[in-house]
Amino acid sequence: MLSINGERFLGHLHALGRIGVDAEGRRTRQAATDEDRLGRETVIGWMKEAGLRVELDRVGNIYGFWETEENAGRAPFAMGSHIDTVIDAGQYDGCAGVLSGLEVIQTMKEAGLRPARPLALVVFTNEEGTRLHPDMVGSLTIAGGISVEDALASPGTDGTTLGAELARIHALGDREPTDFRPAYFIELHIEQGPVLDAEQTPIGAVTSIQGISWHEITIDGAANHAGTTPTSMRRDAGLAAAKVLVFLRERCTRPGSRTVATAGRMAFSPNAVNVIPGRAVFTVDMRCPDEQELQENEQALYDFLASLEQSDHVSATARRMVRFQPVVFDGTIVQTVLDAAAARDLKARPIASGAGQDAQMISRVCPTAMIFVPSVGGVSHSPKEFTADGDLVNGANVLLDAACRLANA
Ligand code: GLV
Ligand code: MN
Ligand code: MN
Repeated sequence: MLSINGERFLGHLHALGRIGVDAEGRRTRQAATDEDRLGRETVIGWMKEAGLRVELDRVGNIYGFWETEENAGRAPFAMGSHIDTVIDAGQYDGCAGVLSGLEVIQTMKEAGLRPARPLALVVFTNEEGTRLHPDMVGSLTIAGGISVEDALASPGTDGTTLGAELARIHALGDREPTDFRPAYFIELHIEQGPVLDAEQTPIGAVTSIQGISWHEITIDGAANHAGTTPTSMRRDAGLAAAKVLVFLRERCTRPGSRTVATAGRMAFSPNAVNVIPGRAVFTVDMRCPDEQELQENEQALYDFLASLEQSDHVSATARRMVRFQPVVFDGTIVQTVLDAAAARDLKARPIASGAGQDAQMISRVCPTAMIFVPSVGGVSHSPKEFTADGDLVNGANVLLDAACRLANA
């Protein structure tokens, strides 16, 4: 049975993981930053070393193609993920998928295989969306869910735009994103949740991804003196923001609720110890596998914001940043992953993804699924993110087997 070169794969992964680590040891390689540029150039170098033809598209997605004379021009079997990170990130999120895909192609080439289809590896631009919104924008552009112009106009939390920043780091190419139409797509990813680790199951065959709703909420009250303003006369935007958080937690803990909600970014102004907050701006990330429940919770949030105007004498507005519906993956590809795991005597189970994924977008253009490998303790978007080397190698071997099957399908 053909197997990947685990040492080379893990060597690449850990080398990429060292890029963007600051003096305090925090790994932050947000999309379209100088750190991202270094990561991108490093991975492009490895793709070229592996003999792939590298192309960039108009939103900075990176493609590596392996074609033979016989299969050139056919729709490829594609793999890929992202290498941008959140703030103070782990080293596995996204990178494991990109570098396992590279390893699979290298292994197939070295074994002298002549697959019926070309193989493609994609590094999608700005999956994380922590700096520039929306997230998953590279894969969304490929899927035709946003125009190139709108993608490039994605606003940043620091006053930048994606297009200006990608141009600055020389990451833009000529390919039309919507020209990428693979026959099949598989993304390997760490689970980022606790299920596989808790069940000691090395492989998850991902069946679905929950819907995602992001809003930026702005609450305006009145800044005033913290000592002299009687409680009854306050229009406290900070208090109103806190009420929104409590409201969301109550919604999420209602019997039968499948929604999770997070306010991950919040800013008060003027942000001073002795001033009542005049303004609070914060984000709400809501996710649910059920589209109708997600819609009901969005409406409940809007209604609650409207009610604050009465109860707290503030004004509150919600600006939608991101909205993606839940996705169900292709049953045949999911089964291919389960079969590949079984053939290697690896315990596997179907599993749902709690995180957003580029595969969620690519599933709009071709049969798609994902392979999950365990995250110890279910920790991710944290420097404590960890997946054992053996689990990564197992996942990459399952990806290899699925690739061999689907590249000949
Ligand atoms: C991406 O990692 C997300 O799910 O937010
Ligand atoms: Mn990811
Ligand atoms: Mn992530």
